[in-house]
Amino acid sequence: MSLHRLASLTIGVPEPVPVRAFYRDFGLVETAPGRLESADGGAQLRIEASPRRGLLALSVGVDDGDDLGRAAAGLQRLGVPVQLRPRALEAVEPATGVRVRLELQPRLTQKPPPLIPLNAPGRTLREDARSPAVLGSPSALPRRLSHVVLGSPDSAASRRFFVEAIGFRVSDEVPAMGASFLRCSTDHHNLLVQSGPAPFLHHTAWEMDDVDAVGRAAARMIAADASRHVWGLGRHGIGSNFFWYLRDPAGNFAEYTCDLDVIADDEAWKAAASGSAHPLAAWGPPVPRSFLAPDDIVRG
Ligand SMILES: [Fe+2]
Repeated sequence: MSLHRLASLTIGVPEPVPVRAFYRDFGLVETAPGRLESADGGAQLRIEASPRRGLLALSVGVDDGDDLGRAAAGLQRLGVPVQLRPRALEAVEPATGVRVRLELQPRLTQKPPPLIPLNAPGRTLREDARSPAVLGSPSALPRRLSHVVLGSPDSAASRRFFVEAIGFRVSDEVPAMGASFLRCSTDHHNLLVQSGPAPFLHHTAWEMDDVDAVGRAAARMIAADASRHVWGLGRHGIGSNFFWYLRDPAGNFAEYTCDLDVIADDEAWKAAASGSAHPLAAWGPPVPRSFLAPDDIVRG
């Protein structure tokens, strides 16, 4: 695969200051005003002032100039204007107005976390010792950006842009929601495009070491401000990932996640179109109505 990572996002919000503070609490490090880094992924989030909350831009890392050339040709086939430079390409996705940038970047390698030995019926991996998960309070920090979910008033057109022109692959689809789970790496999804009454940012998701890290980080956020809680803990049915969603002060959801499916062999993975009315979770608390239809988006 020539696309290899979701590199960064730019979010616009009416009042950046409290939103920046939220993402610092969330575990990102602000290295300059509005520029936030994850532990492994570098500068992956920019927060800028804009009249409405929304996703302004996303960038994708690619291997070489041939990848830029293929995307440029695909965009031209769709009639989308494209700016092509030696090391980057930019185009605007017409249905949502999101600026999409492809740029030559080295691949990301991550150091794995220590394995937490889990006991189970008939399988004892930890004897005569307490779990490392309850000893001390290791910091639970987002390792990198995992994915972003974008509402589009024309999800078919957005899907066409990202798949046919940019080069994302389709991992799964939920036709009833006009939803396509798309990847630009071996992650099951880096971008989910779903139908919405207007372009909107549903959530960003950040990869954690394991489910204990998801729980510790979300519990810490909620202890500071219980109104941040949205939905969790649960495990998604599509992508298999554990989730816990919080809400930032602008109304964007932010997900701690781990154990997302990995698609290393495109031929081995079978994309599925789910017809289930509620494919959202294999298990978890009841899904809040505001998660399915964010209040400010429904009001318009
Ligand atoms: Fe998610």
